[in-house]
Amino acid sequence: MSRKIITVIPGDGIGPDIVDSALKILDKAGCDFEYEFADAGLAALEKHGELLPQSTLDLIEKNKVTLKGPLTTPVGKGFTSINVGLRKKFNLYANLRPVISFKGTQARYENIDIITVRENTQGMYSGLGQVVSEDGNRAEAKSVITREGAERIARFAFDLARREGRKKVTIVHKANILKSTSGLFLDVARKVSQKYPDIETAEMIVDACCMKLVMNPEAFDVIVTTNLFGDIISDLCAGLVGGLGMAPGANIGKDAALFEAVHGSAPDIAGKNIANPSSVILASIQMLEYLHMGDKAEMIRKALAAVIAEGDRTTPDLGGSHGTTDFTQAIIERLESYV
Ligand SMILES: NC(=O)c1ccc[n+]([C@@H]2O[C@H](COP(=O)([O-])OP(=O)(O)OC[C@H]3O[C@@H](n4cnc5c(N)ncnc54)[C@H](O)[C@@H]3O)[C@@H](O)[C@H]2O)c1
Repeated sequence: MSRKIITVIPGDGIGPDIVDSALKILDKAGCDFEYEFADAGLAALEKHGELLPQSTLDLIEKNKVTLKGPLTTPVGKGFTSINVGLRKKFNLYANLRPVISFKGTQARYENIDIITVRENTQGMYSGLGQVVSEDGNRAEAKSVITREGAERIARFAFDLARREGRKKVTIVHKANILKSTSGLFLDVARKVSQKYPDIETAEMIVDACCMKLVMNPEAFDVIVTTNLFGDIISDLCAGLVGGLGMAPGANIGKDAALFEAVHGSAPDIAGKNIANPSSVILASIQMLEYLHMGDKAEMIRKALAAVIAEGDRTTPDLGGSHGTTDFTQAIIERLESYV
């Protein structure tokens, strides 16, 4: 059988180091992938004169599965986010952001297992219709939600809950104020929920949801929401389990999937060998699950959890004093005892 080819985008800042860590771990776990490397972001701008070269888009399309490091997006004027562009171009409509408690992370809570299912292509975050008046005194942006878009993400969330044996889906919205966009989303998600009588459905307004997530996160299981709310809520959830270094994200479409760390390129610590590679390792675990390689996914999760729990070879954000490479080596040594 031919080896599965994965497109790998190392990315900017800490990206190349943490992606390298994930690839070494996948190889040690015996995943037997072939990797084809592509550039995007500032790295691509420097090499090819453009942020998202056609050759990168071609590789993503050809191989269908991509593992991506974070990309730098300058704030304000200049180019629009490449991440947003990739999600739109490949219609990666579902963004799955799980957070799970790992012992040893010095997180605020110990028993968190929440997955945010974020609509990834519509709503306020999609950057539609952004205009600033000539005098700079007026700015506008457009938010569009469609019945089709709301329905497919709601189905995705409820199917995921059923497949993973989860108990509850919370629909998060702001339909009391955003009556058109959030109203349509809520209406459609409610209708979809009726087809899943085996799953408990809850509804929550986004601001109340944020408060409850901080006060009683154990009450949450699957959250389904629109693009901007999902972006914010998933970072809040990352904070519950020890920060962005522990938060992966999967962007799933009908024909392609892209797995990444939720955090950015962390320019403040780039090149210092202190970045925590866990988020991109967890993203590669999501990739293995997507590829029906659950045994390998579990093996890597176990090794990662053991090294974090022991705590003597972890990175500074996890309370340790070790580098990215030593943390990675500790996971590799752990895997050696399993394979
Ligand atoms: N998916 C993506 O590619 C993505 C996501 C978010 C931000 N960005 C981009 O990244 C750039 C930097 O953004 P930012 O500084 O606001 O956010 P950031 O996530 O890069 O960093 C926020 C803070 O968290 C720390 N941090 C992040 N990841 C870490 C890790 N793995 N280990 C240890 N500490 C970590 C950083 O050092 C920093 O102090 C911007 O250009 C932004 O647009 C990209």
